[in-house]
Amino acid sequence: EKGGYKHYMAKEIAQQPTVVGEVLNAYVKDDRIAMNLGGIDFADVDRLSIVACGTAYYAGLVAKYWFEHYARLPIDIDVASEFRYREAPFAPKTLGVFVSQSGETADTLAALRYSAGKVDKIVSLINVPESSIARESDVAVEIHAGPEVSVASTKAFTCQLTCFAIMALKAAHDRGHLDDTGLAAHLADLRQLPGLMSHALTIDTATKEIAAKLAEARDVLFLGRGQMFPLALEGALKLKEISYIHAEGYASGELKHGPIALVDKATPTVVMAPHDGLFDKTVSNMQEVMARGGRVVLVSDARAAKEAGDGVWQSLALPEAPELIQPILYAIPAQLLAYHTAIAKGTDVDQPRNLAKSVTVE
Ligand code: F6R
Repeated sequence: EKGGYKHYMAKEIAQQPTVVGEVLNAYVKDDRIAMNLGGIDFADVDRLSIVACGTAYYAGLVAKYWFEHYARLPIDIDVASEFRYREAPFAPKTLGVFVSQSGETADTLAALRYSAGKVDKIVSLINVPESSIARESDVAVEIHAGPEVSVASTKAFTCQLTCFAIMALKAAHDRGHLDDTGLAAHLADLRQLPGLMSHALTIDTATKEIAAKLAEARDVLFLGRGQMFPLALEGALKLKEISYIHAEGYASGELKHGPIALVDKATPTVVMAPHDGLFDKTVSNMQEVMARGGRVVLVSDARAAKEAGDGVWQSLALPEAPELIQPILYAIPAQLLAYHTAIAKGTDVDQPRNLAKSVTVE
């Protein structure tokens, strides 16, 4: 049931503070991590091989930044359709990690089967405990998103990210890169998520106004740097899926290597840029876009928006947040921009053309 919302997608976006809160209740107890990983000690792990499709792949891409940064653990990440036929060799002490909301995605399942017996353990992040991927894993971590009906994935993404953040902190702690005090501080940051996400959802009205303008575009660029790069990809994917506007996500630093040729007055560029250590770099990329007549939608926080100066076409201000949780928070504007643009275009938000909720054929 849509529970008073016009679309399942709107309901599922709005549920995020609650379901992310449930993930935290399930896997964090006071200052400790209580995620059952079947006895995995990340001190004995040398590598993770993360495999998924679509939005679940982008969750893995954010996780790569976290595992590398906090746990100093090397990460390989692939889309399942490429991975399954590549016959990739595995280094010793590798864990295979498979991410799938439905747990039935054919390519992800095939990639899991390819990895079984070649990696130390198969871990999956799943939303459906009875699913094939869950059943064939050594350890299946439930993401606790609850049923996701809208074809465009929203709350599963933020729940996958929250699970990955907890796992990366466990890895950092196991590997001696985070002491008890450091762990407690990061867990306190994670606990801010439900409140900050509720706050972030109040940009709904402002997003609607920007979406009315985006709906006129034929192409939209999304830029992000560091852990915001996968969010740029996710923003572009959501927009193309449900509004049918051509959108591309790029790492900000790649702009000069090609995509800047697309910049003109008619092509808006959405810049996902919280106030982090890379903010100044992103601002300079943004200025390059503006210098070429491009119109920028800056998705940021109030302090960063002020520092970014004049010339921005539209801006969305989220609450300031600790760096670890920024990618989770910035999923909300990515989703809302797509949602309201689709409404402005009159497309079928929950059942976009040509797409299925569960892709059980390759
Ligand atoms: C995007 C979307 C798809 C899925 C992908 C993987 O909004 O829904 O990209 O994320 O098909 O699906 P699961 O997670 O079920 O394996």
